[in-house]
Amino acid sequence: FQPKVLAGKRVLVTAGPTMERIDPVRVISNRSSGKTGYAIAQAAFEAGADVLMVSGPTALPPPYGVKRIDVESARQMHQAVMAQAHRADIFISVAAVADWHVVNASDDKLKKTPDNAPPSLEFAPNPDILAEVAGLADGPWCVGFAAETSNLHEHAQAKRERKGVPLLVGNLAQEVMHVDDTSLVLFDEHGAYAMPTLSKKDAARELVRVIAQRHAASQP
Ligand code: C5P
Repeated sequence: FQPKVLAGKRVLVTAGPTMERIDPVRVISNRSSGKTGYAIAQAAFEAGADVLMVSGPTALPPPYGVKRIDVESARQMHQAVMAQAHRADIFISVAAVADWHVVNASDDKLKKTPDNAPPSLEFAPNPDILAEVAGLADGPWCVGFAAETSNLHEHAQAKRERKGVPLLVGNLAQEVMHVDDTSLVLFDEHGAYAMPTLSKKDAARELVRVIAQRHAASQP
């Protein structure tokens, strides 16, 4: 049984990877199973929130009670999130959003050439969804995530400040991909707090408890 610490709150969560098309059958993506984001969406629902998830492609079923909008690319995720953000009290940005999309993506499947020359791809940056939501006047209270491969504290704290979010959740990417346990570190304006290693479900519940507490404390 979960205490209803988010009763009456609207929570918007992004989860999963985004996929950027090269052609109709090939994509560039980030490694993300979606497990953490889905577990957080579920934990927020169990805590009494009205939860809407914007999800990139994953193999997971939508958590019970959670509404889901499915998207593929970062630009689609951006559009869906910006259409919903003003209605949310809390935005939890868990998705592993691709930083770039392919400008010269092809509508037809690229064929191998006789000399087997690889295609040249041109990239352009995707919108930073979290930074944009965090910058909204009257926007939701924002939580970011950072998966790093080294120097977690340094990168995560810098990212929190750059994106302008009160709380950023860090983890080491190589420890977290496609496994069920996770060791999260919380970063706020006072510093870092390491959570114990927990299953993604338990970590999500603990995180939701922390988010509810901090969101409440931030309200006038
Ligand atoms: O910049 P980086 O991708 O490392 O930042 C991670 C955080 O920013 C995550 O919360 C992720 O969901 C969010 N993000 C985003 N839009 C992007 C890139 C990252 O919302 N284009």
